Amino acid sequence: MTYDVAAVRACFPALDEGAAHFDGPGGSQVPEQVADAVAGVLRAAVANRGAGTVAERRADRIVAEARQAMADLLGGTPTGVVFGRSMTQLTYDMARTLAKGWRPGDEVVVTRLDHDANIRPWVQTAEAHGVAVRWADFDPERGELDVTAIAGLLTERTRLVAVTAASNLLGSRPDIPAIAEQVHAAGALLYVDGVHLTPHSPVDLQGLGADFYACSPYKFLGPHLGVLAADPALLETLRPDKLLPSSDAVPERFELGTLPYELLAGTTAAVDFLAGLVPGPGTRRERLTRSMAALERHEEAMLGRLDAGLAGIGGVTSYGAASRRRTPTTLFSIDRVRPADAYLSLAERGVNAPAGHFYALECSRHLGLGDTGAIRAGIAPYTDESDVDRLLKGIQELAGQG
Ligand SMILES: Cc1ncc(COP(=O)(O)O)c(C=O)c1O
Repeated sequence: MTYDVAAVRACFPALDEGAAHFDGPGGSQVPEQVADAVAGVLRAAVANRGAGTVAERRADRIVAEARQAMADLLGGTPTGVVFGRSMTQLTYDMARTLAKGWRPGDEVVVTRLDHDANIRPWVQTAEAHGVAVRWADFDPERGELDVTAIAGLLTERTRLVAVTAASNLLGSRPDIPAIAEQVHAAGALLYVDGVHLTPHSPVDLQGLGADFYACSPYKFLGPHLGVLAADPALLETLRPDKLLPSSDAVPERFELGTLPYELLAGTTAAVDFLAGLVPGPGTRRERLTRSMAALERHEEAMLGRLDAGLAGIGGVTSYGAASRRRTPTTLFSIDRVRPADAYLSLAERGVNAPAGHFYALECSRHLGLGDTGAIRAGIAPYTDESDVDRLLKGIQELAGQG
């Protein structure tokens, strides 16, 4: 079954506003089904989770369904799915929890390819506990983080390695299974930032070898919250700070306060939407695997069109486009045009492709782009050829060749 982008686009009310959206890496647009699911919960009787009333049972069911949906999306276990306000918040929380077992002189490894949300929580928590931070660098020409860049930093004192599954600036994808092998051989834990990978590719936690995998539903057509997935057996060994009366069960132990039921229902709807991108039979996990593979092919085709177009425009520099494996995300600049000006000029043409470092500050600096960054264009499930052509036409005009 092929990917029907026109049918997909018809589900997104936001597209009626007319813009071509290349701002998906910052947050995707939302299909009608997700908006309906969120509104449906807000309109229904809902109470704190429990078994006594219809309203309590509804809340309980919403949570169970969302955990199952995320487990299906990631190839995980429902009781290993933790919900939080954002990936950033979950990562700070987990850093503080893990640090209870760290000793002065221990080490953590972070990378310059990562979004700051998978750097600063580790750096600041390490500092607070006398733990050393080792920095893994990527090759700025290729935009790739080699396994050896991490393997060379591992010692018997390494407690944790934090690495992204895909760069939100360049799209490059480190070889996580190979990194996991090295990290585990050193006796350390691997914390993977899957925020930018999850919207673009089938994900299999077992295959990746991640001990922790964090992602954000608002990047894959869902509402604004964060998810942390891990083996429940690992979560059982950890003791986060929590309120005395709140549940000590896993994963509830890690969820502070009352969960946002309406957003959880929206998350389940987003996963169901992804599973149905390409219609067909099977379990939701099977449908997700098939649909995400078809989505990946569609997005690769759009990226190919974009990259080829950019290569044909004089004065355009693309960063990290030589990466062997990339999500459909392109970072580029135009000679003699400031990125912030290009972004506003494109916006005037109805093309949303923002500029900046997008919180991948270390990455931007390591690329030589400082704190200014460049223009980022991200392909999303609703991106079609006419979107790409509108973006290319705008860039051509800005480069003085239109
Ligand atoms: C790769 C990556 N990691 C982490 C984050 C932070 O996610 P959240 O907004 O859920 O904290 C982002 C957000 O842009 C991201 O792109």
